[in-house]
Amino acid sequence: MATTPIAARRKLATPPPPSSPFPYHPGSLLSVMDLTVPAVSHLLERAAVLEHQDPVVRDRILQKRRIALLFYESSTRTRTSFELASKALGADTTLVSNLSSSIEKGESLKDTGLTLRALGAEAIILRHNSSGAAWLLEEATRLPVINAGDGMHEHPTQALLDLRTILAHLRPGVAEVGPETLSGVTVTIAGDILHSRVARSNMLLLPRLGARVLLCGPKELLPEMAAKSSPGIPPQRQGPVAGGPGIEIERNFESAIRQSQAIMMLRIQAERLAGLQLDLEEYKAAYQLTGQRLASQAPTAIVMHPGPIIRGLEITAGVADGPQSTILEQVTNGVAIRMAVVERALTTAEGLLP
Ligand code: CP
Repeated sequence: MATTPIAARRKLATPPPPSSPFPYHPGSLLSVMDLTVPAVSHLLERAAVLEHQDPVVRDRILQKRRIALLFYESSTRTRTSFELASKALGADTTLVSNLSSSIEKGESLKDTGLTLRALGAEAIILRHNSSGAAWLLEEATRLPVINAGDGMHEHPTQALLDLRTILAHLRPGVAEVGPETLSGVTVTIAGDILHSRVARSNMLLLPRLGARVLLCGPKELLPEMAAKSSPGIPPQRQGPVAGGPGIEIERNFESAIRQSQAIMMLRIQAERLAGLQLDLEEYKAAYQLTGQRLASQAPTAIVMHPGPIIRGLEITAGVADGPQSTILEQVTNGVAIRMAVVERALTTAEGLLP
């Protein structure tokens, strides 16, 4: 795999002015809607290849390429798996966190991004507490930007690793995915849908592969409009289904999980509730995934959770650690998926801009 010549890297230190619509860089992954279904299929195939490739060979794919991880919010799974994935491909990584950088002194996202670029970063993996931050960073730097979670908006690599987990259990052996791959599969996403970027990315991805998605939660955390088509996405990028058909609201938790082959539990995002008062005991009574509920309503469904889990709130410890849980498998799948996404970022057009 060719590396970017030093002269080209220097040229990239000064980004050209924006002249094209989003996304600027074909290696960026800002939303799952950046990916066509064949592109999703290709990433899944690459994840499978890279996961089993000889580490010595794999190490040459992005040898000495420079990737910056820019994290404005805490993270365990996403940050670690992106770092391991990048290093497994031979890239050099550097972590910049809001707690140990000039961001603390008030430096803007744009200036931080331009600084990383001037230091030689060829791609930036961004987690930010503001929805849309990844778009702003891409516009400012014109580097490939990977959205590692932006506010309450999207977490595209989480949706991809969730898809890989679902396929491994419900469609084992399927190497290529298409619009019908998940026909007949119902996935319940339960809990704090309103604040969940994981829910949003999964809602924008799973129905495009034929899955039916049931959203379940109280009105405060699941407004009726959640089942409607996502505004702001150009029709040509919506695909056959995007947030419309294929997504329904089912307020009764037991009814939802009874119909499902996969149950995705979400934590209450205390950091984003902004004054919203929730009676946690009432919430648990209605929506906690307990061993009793699982055994009586969905004894064969897989139980997913993006993490971090709050044991004893949205899910009991027995279910989280039980035989139906895929929680740690999802974490493991994160490394393979992120290898494929990082490879795409740095090998699509090789970072050389028009
Ligand atoms: N699923 C997820 O994004 O976890 P982290 O916040 O630990 O990265």
